[in-house]
Amino acid sequence: MTFPFNEQPLKKGAFIVFEGLDGSGKGTQIQLLASRLRQENIKVSCSAEPTQSSTGGLIRDVLAGDIKRSPAELGALFLTDRIHHNINSSNGIKMCLENGITVICDRYYYSSFAYQGTECDLEWLMAANLNCPDIIKPDLCIFLDVPPNECSDRISNNRSSKEIFEKSIDTLKAVRSKFFEVFSLLDKSENIAVLNADTPVSELSDKIYEVVKKIL
Ligand code: TYD
Repeated sequence: MTFPFNEQPLKKGAFIVFEGLDGSGKGTQIQLLASRLRQENIKVSCSAEPTQSSTGGLIRDVLAGDIKRSPAELGALFLTDRIHHNINSSNGIKMCLENGITVICDRYYYSSFAYQGTECDLEWLMAANLNCPDIIKPDLCIFLDVPPNECSDRISNNRSSKEIFEKSIDTLKAVRSKFFEVFSLLDKSENIAVLNADTPVSELSDKIYEVVKKIL
């Protein structure tokens, strides 16, 4: 196929998701990766779930324990928020990727499976998210693996109040096992890199960059 004036078709952006327990250092590593890619003139948009939408606000109220919702309701709220995250026309994932912008997202459907999947039907949650035509499959999911006791220490050192999912080491252990259960269920259908993240920040950042370069 030829293009007028030797123009190349716009290369789609890559969709990279970071997952991990609360306190696993996703935020720091996302910022480091974003600035490294930007230095290479790659356009990057960073986002997170829950989003800043009105549904995201409702989710945060539930997570803070200010209002009560059942696990299935919470799973459905995250699903709604995720659809909006994908398709909204101001900074949606779909629009970014189509415009050649790489999206780095702090949490995605893997978190729904690990957190809500411990308390409501995992099969239902997986089908609702994975079969939804408005929810884009990431090109890469990076799971930052930090031992639950280390996460718990970091949470208590860094934050004043805990969310409903951050209460105990046992909860963090259960969520970590659920992540691994889900990763083995997803198996080859998703590109998941599990990285030992109990290492110095710059060492981990180099490892992440190496994994990301393979898909760019
Ligand atoms: P938040 O403090 O916003 O971010 P983080 O801990 O990732 O830095 O917390 C988000 C919380 O939401 C976290 O405890 C995991 C939870 N969560 C779910 O339960 N289901 C989901 O689908 C997502 C995306 C997050």
